Amino acid sequence: MRIADIVNRCPEPLPWAEGDNIPWNDPDFSRRMLDEHLTQGHDAASRRLALVDHHIAWIHDVLLDERPSSILDLGCGPGLYLERLAARGHTCTGVDYSPASIAYARKKAGDSGWDIDYREGDLREVEYPRDRTLVMQIFGEMNVFRRSDAASILGRACGALVPGGRVLLEVHEYDTIKGLGSEGASWFSSPSDLFGDDPHLVLTESHWDSKTATTTIRYHIIDAASGAVDRYAQTFQAYTDPEYTALLVEAGFGNIRLIRDVPGWWPPGPRQLFLLVGEKMS
Ligand SMILES: C[S@@+](CC[C@H](N)C(=O)[O-])C[C@H]1O[C@@H](n2cnc3c(N)ncnc32)[C@H](O)[C@@H]1O
Repeated sequence: MRIADIVNRCPEPLPWAEGDNIPWNDPDFSRRMLDEHLTQGHDAASRRLALVDHHIAWIHDVLLDERPSSILDLGCGPGLYLERLAARGHTCTGVDYSPASIAYARKKAGDSGWDIDYREGDLREVEYPRDRTLVMQIFGEMNVFRRSDAASILGRACGALVPGGRVLLEVHEYDTIKGLGSEGASWFSSPSDLFGDDPHLVLTESHWDSKTATTTIRYHIIDAASGAVDRYAQTFQAYTDPEYTALLVEAGFGNIRLIRDVPGWWPPGPRQLFLLVGEKMS
């Protein structure tokens, strides 16, 4: 792309038309993203470890009642959750399509002696293992999939569970996604960051589409030396509470709980995500 393509862009992007997601699975982007997962300076890609430890305590003590379980983590990133769950005696499998995250997670597990099965692949395509007692997805990624993909992932997640097994999803509030789409346009420059190893400008704009209840965020990355432009786009699907419930019921889950009051799960301030738990009906 060239700068003229930015000027001539469609002002109101169609959901998912300009790309599925930020390129988590690109080797260079994923190498840079790994630093964002591991930093203790912010909670953007993964939560800081103090928060992860709170999450693990709730999952292990409350959700799983300390019973040894077999867990599948969909979008496990660098394995911050699975390594802690394996250390508590659970059998763990993680799937993610970020090559750097999976390489890091495998090495960490190997070095620490944890028997964790990490699989590199796209959640929409890979086969899921069977006979799990918990399938989880933490930190809102389900909203980035088209509804049809989310339904298919959840249907297969249900198929991976034993009867009575549970799904744990951390999803975005409807208003969080609507609010993301009202942030307008902004820009910054950087000598090197997630978006590139060399100096560049990042132009960001977001758009809420009330007809589809989606927010699309576009990033135009302009290389400072050549002026070459890359574009990434990410669309978030908003769901009301009844729509989340319907999505889970359609996938084969019942006893659905929407949980917004886990002490210490979310940092202080307005809460943007919440937990959904469903049980596989036999
Ligand atoms: C926000 S991060 C959360 C990572 C991890 N759950 C955590 O909280 O530390 C989202 C993760 O989902 C992964 N992801 C996104 N889309 C994916 C897809 N289609 N297939 C596999 N992994 C995907 C990304 O690579 C990334 O590791």
